[in-house]
Amino acid sequence: KSGAVGAIIFDNLPLHGTLGTPTGDEVPTVSITEKDALDYIKKLTEDPSYKFETTLYVDSVITNITTLNVIAETRFGDHDNVVSLGAHSDSVTEGPGINDDGSGTISLLEVAKELTKFKVKNAVRFAWWAAEEEGLLGSDYYANSLNEEENSKVRLFMDYDMMASPNYEYEVYDANNEDHPNGSGTLKDLYIDWYTSHGLNYTLVPFDGRSDYVGFIDNGIPAGGIATGAEGVKTKEGEEKFGGKAGDWFDPCYHQLCDDLSNPDYEAWVINTKLIAHSVATYAESFDGFPI
Ligand code: PHE
Ligand code: ZN
Ligand code: ZN
Ligand code: ZN
Repeated sequence: KSGAVGAIIFDNLPLHGTLGTPTGDEVPTVSITEKDALDYIKKLTEDPSYKFETTLYVDSVITNITTLNVIAETRFGDHDNVVSLGAHSDSVTEGPGINDDGSGTISLLEVAKELTKFKVKNAVRFAWWAAEEEGLLGSDYYANSLNEEENSKVRLFMDYDMMASPNYEYEVYDANNEDHPNGSGTLKDLYIDWYTSHGLNYTLVPFDGRSDYVGFIDNGIPAGGIATGAEGVKTKEGEEKFGGKAGDWFDPCYHQLCDDLSNPDYEAWVINTKLIAHSVATYAESFDGFPI
């Protein structure tokens, strides 16, 4: 590709390791093996029809690793009608991922611990997903590998990714939009009713496919969830509704080194963890009125 400045697309190469250019951001990078990268660079440099105005370098070499979802289900309750919820246990390599998604991870642990004090009618299945940041790998793998019978037992999935953004808003995934018709309207209403009855504002956000509900929705399992915002910018209206700072990201440390223990908003975390407990309590008690 003569004269291509940075924009080099590699086709048909297996995924692992990244190849990019020093200009970083504007440049698409692809993931390939080290050997393929070196072979490819060699081939390109020997081929007179290729001309580069940028230096290629191997940015990092990633090896294959095995990673695990952690799934825990109550011993009691109806195992044919399961309430499921999840948070992702991985973070990006750039930072510790305390808000994203240490926050949801710990919410689930807290709710699981408290749940031991109660009796459930429906079984509750907690999931800590692996490799969300690499492309929803853990949850997709799980949802896609449920056979028809196991799929039908999972009555809903609730996603809890980023519960405590420092410049938070209380976001509820909008259900039944065109892109993802399996969003649960009943669950959406539960969140809205709870925020409203606690005197709190909320905002509807679309299912944009960026968290672990995707595998469930795509396999016909109703899903929904709440979040507090990532790299979206708070508006003036948002500031009036939720406080915080207009013009800043909801989480200014999103996917960065500073997403550390000082990052999450503790108040938002407590509010949302109470709502998570409420969602679990509601459906562990009954799926009456809940679609299929
Ligand atoms: N799932 C994203 C992440 O882990 C965060 C996110 C969720 C962003 C929903 C936008 C909407 O990075
Ligand atoms: Zn993330
Ligand atoms: Zn996340
Ligand atoms: Zn989808």
